[in-house]
Amino acid sequence: MPSLRDRFEQWCGRGPTVSSDAGGRVNLIGEHTDYHEGFVLPAAIDLRTTACAAPRPDGVLRIRSEAVRDEVQIDLGALAPRARTDWRSYVLGPSWALIGEGIALPGADILVDSQVPFGGGLSSSASVEVCLVALGARLAARELDPRTIARIARRAENEFCHVPCGAMDQMASACGREGHAILLDCRTMETRLVPMPADWAIVVADSGVRHSLAAGEYAKRQRECASGLGKLASRRPGIAAARDLTVDILASDGEALSEVERRRLRHVVAENERVWKAAAAMRGGELGAMGELLWASHRSLAADYEVSCAELDTLVEIAAGIPGIAGARLTGAGFGGNTLNLVRACDAQFAAAELADRYKAKTGRLSAVRVVIASRGVTVS
Ligand code: GLA
Repeated sequence: MPSLRDRFEQWCGRGPTVSSDAGGRVNLIGEHTDYHEGFVLPAAIDLRTTACAAPRPDGVLRIRSEAVRDEVQIDLGALAPRARTDWRSYVLGPSWALIGEGIALPGADILVDSQVPFGGGLSSSASVEVCLVALGARLAARELDPRTIARIARRAENEFCHVPCGAMDQMASACGREGHAILLDCRTMETRLVPMPADWAIVVADSGVRHSLAAGEYAKRQRECASGLGKLASRRPGIAAARDLTVDILASDGEALSEVERRRLRHVVAENERVWKAAAAMRGGELGAMGELLWASHRSLAADYEVSCAELDTLVEIAAGIPGIAGARLTGAGFGGNTLNLVRACDAQFAAAELADRYKAKTGRLSAVRVVIASRGVTVS
């Protein structure tokens, strides 16, 4: 396959002046906690989105996606959030968000390609947004730090694509560091790097399921939690987000909640605690302890937060029977996509092959199973 630069030249008849790349992400633990101002522990990965571009003098933005083999063209002045969200929204949103930040973008030809499986819970959308925000800023001769890139990329997702996501994906994609996970406090946006022990490996297994209802269910979880939180906050001042709840508060005031609200909030409280324990387990190289936290996270996501599906549960059950897999759980929003499996590095290839074989035997479905590596964040040159 020719390089992206060569493909750009073939497409435009001239070379690119700027390139960028940004990782997908795997979330080790801390699922459905970011929009509650809680804690998450993701890592950028070596499945990446890459882009290159050259400015054009006519104020036109022309973007070609190699992944969908299609292109979109628009006057910069006509950029506005669209009613329908599709691949065009994800490639146009970054330019709209940059302009919204007062950054004077020139017209440009932009070619973008991605290795991150679309809709697989590995942040294909955030990696595109982060990659294109970095690219656009450089075209506008502006230096933005990775956090600012992440903030603008999230703005594109929230306001242009109408997806009410939290801060995790864009932060991981932009701020990743090789060989590290990022412990992120989604209230203060403070980050701490947590080294990935050298003898641990991450295997992601794709359920092959892409649930179209995910977007609606995601917003529904936010509403359910907000409704429960409102009841608790009216009794106790100082509760601003589910992040402020504790096991004790849920135990003493829980009767004010509906059964669903109680389960949803119980997940958030327990998951936030697991993130801290997981960071400690990683720092201590305690694979067994980390694995237990992953299984517990999956159970909580499946039973209390109800964001799993039969295929993800099957993958996790299969993982539990494979020697060498210390822990597994769904990663990302859920309802389909990938599971994360934590293994000793020396067992990674065996575990990956077993997962694929056993999933096929049990469900008839093919699973793309990949060993992924904690990688750097966004780069632009
Ligand atoms: C999606 C969102 C994130 C986060 C996860 C669930 O990936 O984009 O902000 O909420 O789901 O943890």
